[in-house]
Amino acid sequence: MSNLARHVAIIMDGNGRWAQERGLKRVKGHERGAETVRSITTFASNHPEVEVLTLYAFSTENWKRPKMEVDFLMRLLNRYLKNETETYIRHQIRFETIGDLSRFSPALQKQIASMKERTRDFKRLTQVLALNYGSQDEISRAAARLCNEGREICVRTLEEELESAKFGPVDILIRTGGDQRLSNFLLWQSAYAELFFTHTLWPDFTPEELESIIGEFKRRTRRFGGI
Ligand code: IPE
Ligand code: IPE
Ligand code: MG
Repeated sequence: MSNLARHVAIIMDGNGRWAQERGLKRVKGHERGAETVRSITTFASNHPEVEVLTLYAFSTENWKRPKMEVDFLMRLLNRYLKNETETYIRHQIRFETIGDLSRFSPALQKQIASMKERTRDFKRLTQVLALNYGSQDEISRAAARLCNEGREICVRTLEEELESAKFGPVDILIRTGGDQRLSNFLLWQSAYAELFFTHTLWPDFTPEELESIIGEFKRRTRRFGGI
C-alpha cells in the first residue's frame, strides 16, 4: 500500500526574498504569502488524503525581527482571519493553532479564539497555524508541566502534554525558500516525516507543486526503523 499523506506540514519561507527580488519592501512578500496560504489550504481541503495542514507562520525566534515587520505580520494575521472566515466556512476547514498565544495582543487573541469557535465542527481539513511556535519552547513547557504535577516524563506522557501532538505525526514536511533546516519546527512530530526542500519562494508555491511533492512522497519507502 502506498504512503498516506495524512498530515502535511510546511515551513513557509522566502516571503522577504520574493519581495526584494522585485524591488519591493519585505512586507509585500508577506502579503503575497497570505494569498498562497489561502490557495494551498483550499487545495488541501479538497485533497482526499490530507486531513491536517500545519503551517509555520511565526516562530518564537521571529520576535528578533524589526518591530515594524513584526507589527505588520500581526496586523496581516488579524486581517487574514477576518477576510478569510468565509473561505473556512465554504470549504469546511477547522482552524486551530499551536504556539504560545499569550504574547499576542488581546484583540488578536480574541480574533483567533473566535475563528476556532466558528470552525470547530468542520471535518474536511484541520488547518493548524503555528503562531509564536518553537518546538524547544513547546517541549520544555510540556516537561515543566509534568514535573510540576509530579508525573513521570516519558514518550507517552510528553505526547499527552504537547499541544501539537494531538494533530498526529507529520507525514510530509516541506520547506520552501531553498534553505535546508527545520528552524525549530515540529521536531517531535517530524521524527519520521519525509522531508522535502524546494527553492520555490513561498509566494510562488502552487497547488501543482504540492501535488507533485505528494506524488514523490508516495514513491518513497518508509521503514520507521523496520526492514
Ligand atoms: C517567511 O518568510 C515568513 C516568516 C518567517 C514570517 P521570511 O520573512 O523568512 O522570508 P525570507 O526568508 O527573509 O526571504
Ligand atoms: C522559519 O523561517 C519560520 C517561519 C517560516 C515562520 P525563518 O526565516 O525564521 O528561519 P531562519 O531564520 O532562516 O532559520
Ligand atoms: Mg526566512
